[in-house]
Amino acid sequence: MNRITYLVAGLLASAAALPTSESTLQERNIGPAGRISSFKDIPSSPELHWTPCYKRFHCANLEVPLDYENPKLGSTVVAWIRLESENGTGTDIIFNPGGPGGSGVDYMLSGGDDLIKMTGGKYDIVSFDPRGVNASGIDLTCFPGSPEARDQYAANSGRYPTEQEKYAEAVAHGRWCSAVNNKTEVRYGGTVAVVQDMLHFTELQAAQDGSKKPKESLIWYYGVSYGTVIGQTLAALYPDRVGRVIVDANVNGEDHYAGVTDTAVEDADDGIQYFFKVCHEAGETKCPFAGKSSSPKDLEKRFNTILEKLKKEPLQSITPALGGPTIITKDMVLHQIFSWLYNPAAYFPYMAASLLALEKGNATMVLTILAELNRADDPGPFNYTSTAAGEVLDLVTAIDSAGRYPIKNVDEYTKAVDEIEKTSVWFGEGYATLNPLINAGMTIMPPKSQLFPGFKKTKTKNPLLFINTNADPITPLSSAKHMSTFFTGSVVLTQNSGGHSSEAIPSKCTRGHIGEYLASAKLPKEGTVCETDKKPLVDKITRRDVVVPLVRSHRM
Ligand SMILES: *[C@@H]1O[C@H](CO)[C@@H](O)[C@H](O)[C@H]1NC(C)=O
Ligand SMILES: *[C@@H]1O[C@H](CO)[C@@H](O)[C@H](O)[C@H]1NC(C)=O
Ligand SMILES: *[C@@H]1O[C@H](CO)[C@@H](O)[C@H](O)[C@H]1NC(C)=O
Ligand SMILES: *[C@@H]1O[C@H](CO)[C@@H](O)[C@H](O)[C@H]1NC(C)=O
Ligand SMILES: *[C@@H]1O[C@H](CO)[C@@H](O)[C@H](O)[C@H]1NC(C)=O
Repeated sequence: MNRITYLVAGLLASAAALPTSESTLQERNIGPAGRISSFKDIPSSPELHWTPCYKRFHCANLEVPLDYENPKLGSTVVAWIRLESENGTGTDIIFNPGGPGGSGVDYMLSGGDDLIKMTGGKYDIVSFDPRGVNASGIDLTCFPGSPEARDQYAANSGRYPTEQEKYAEAVAHGRWCSAVNNKTEVRYGGTVAVVQDMLHFTELQAAQDGSKKPKESLIWYYGVSYGTVIGQTLAALYPDRVGRVIVDANVNGEDHYAGVTDTAVEDADDGIQYFFKVCHEAGETKCPFAGKSSSPKDLEKRFNTILEKLKKEPLQSITPALGGPTIITKDMVLHQIFSWLYNPAAYFPYMAASLLALEKGNATMVLTILAELNRADDPGPFNYTSTAAGEVLDLVTAIDSAGRYPIKNVDEYTKAVDEIEKTSVWFGEGYATLNPLINAGMTIMPPKSQLFPGFKKTKTKNPLLFINTNADPITPLSSAKHMSTFFTGSVVLTQNSGGHSSEAIPSKCTRGHIGEYLASAKLPKEGTVCETDKKPLVDKITRRDVVVPLVRSHRM
């Protein structure tokens, strides 16, 4: 297993697992011959030149200074993509799908239309690959010029069983990575630089639109998961440039910049309780695991019994069709379930079927269900099996924490693990082991102009809209509430559901507030809670209901 696990992750999970019978799963808009369908074919320029691309999009490779304060240092390229709304008002909303490492370009190609629909059809959507991601410049890697060495390292790392060994391995990796990057461009790849790129883009776009005062142009932004760190940073650094900022599925930005996000899974148990609740409500025909159970509590008991049994005796399978002998352990089950909690609409049916199979002790049935799911699944814009994406996650968090990482020795690491384990009965341990180590040994410093100074009470030109579900496995409601305290007049809109971001399960109520906020900066009343229109397992949810195609985005 790779040392990187499911840190803040990108948006949601895969839509491919949703039934498509009543809707059309959008084909990717890869253009016909003759139209540009690769950023490699688009010339780069310090001016903003839009080129028609991918059938209905416009693309631009924008040259930006590595350091805006010191343009002599050289430049890199940021890939931008834009989709116009048929009935647009001409206002752009910049979108980021999360990560760090999620590709906005890739997301737009499959989800651009959904974003337009979700924001009410009045706005054009723009996204981009942040520095270090996919089509954009800066090679965020600890093995410069040697992807084979990187893959080999990833394949062999993470095997040491003790905390001492894990800690030592992580520190060695961080020290190595910092040393090899002492003279590379990597230090210019942090979140502050990404925010400055968004500001620069907005000014160029304003100038192009004929605005007389590009330096006063306002940014409209919608960010999910790690994209909320971008939004929070933007509002903290450039408060008078906030046109609209929506941050949905919030990371605790303060913890992110300190180097350890230790409350990330504190709502994850609520995520699984949400499953027990909707499964019970759906009943046995729609949720096979419901069986004859009398209450959600009863389902929880059976779930714990399954885990206890697996701990004593992992399931074994020798099914020839599966290629070799396999076992199923308690940890494997918890890891899998954790990832399913990101996207209840798509994955709860698989979860219900798997839990029933586990209860029956039928490993073959479990593995058959997983195989079916894997066939339907698409890793989406953040491909966590890609070691390159994993390195982006590593390095962006390392640059952002800029020497502030608080864990200085193995005892402090052990203490951090103990504390994090307490935050979730089922998922604390899985999260605690590897995630606090991401910045271990890292000493890469961004230039002064890209060093985040910390959050303080800030009055923004327009208030921020925070959105969070109250049973999100990886970005808890408390993060939204905490970050909201820094921004005068901001409000947290709670969606009463599981899922990573409000778009995981459709809610007219939530979307109505988004529309109103975009139109007039009007916020819902403090304390507003939105219900969802449908419930997973209870109601049939199809690809059409879920506006944003969901991106699977973590690994444990
Ligand atoms: C644009 O407006 C027309 C007329 O009201 C409507 O038929 C169409 O569906 C709208 N398009 C989008 C993308 O909302
Ligand atoms: C990265 O870009 C390539 C094309 O350059 C594209 O095929 C691929 O889907 C992208 N990957 C991600 C994770 O966005
Ligand atoms: C286990 O499940 C498989 C596949 O669903 C089924 O064919 C098999 O009969 C089951 N085995 C037992 C012992 O129930
Ligand atoms: C994800 O990355 C892995 C490793 O680089 C690669 O083998 C796989 O094809 C990628 N998946 C997709 C859908 O891009
Ligand atoms: C490179 O190494 C020097 C000397 O150890 C150190 O002062 C500097 O901060 C390092 N640069 C980066 C980007 O880490």
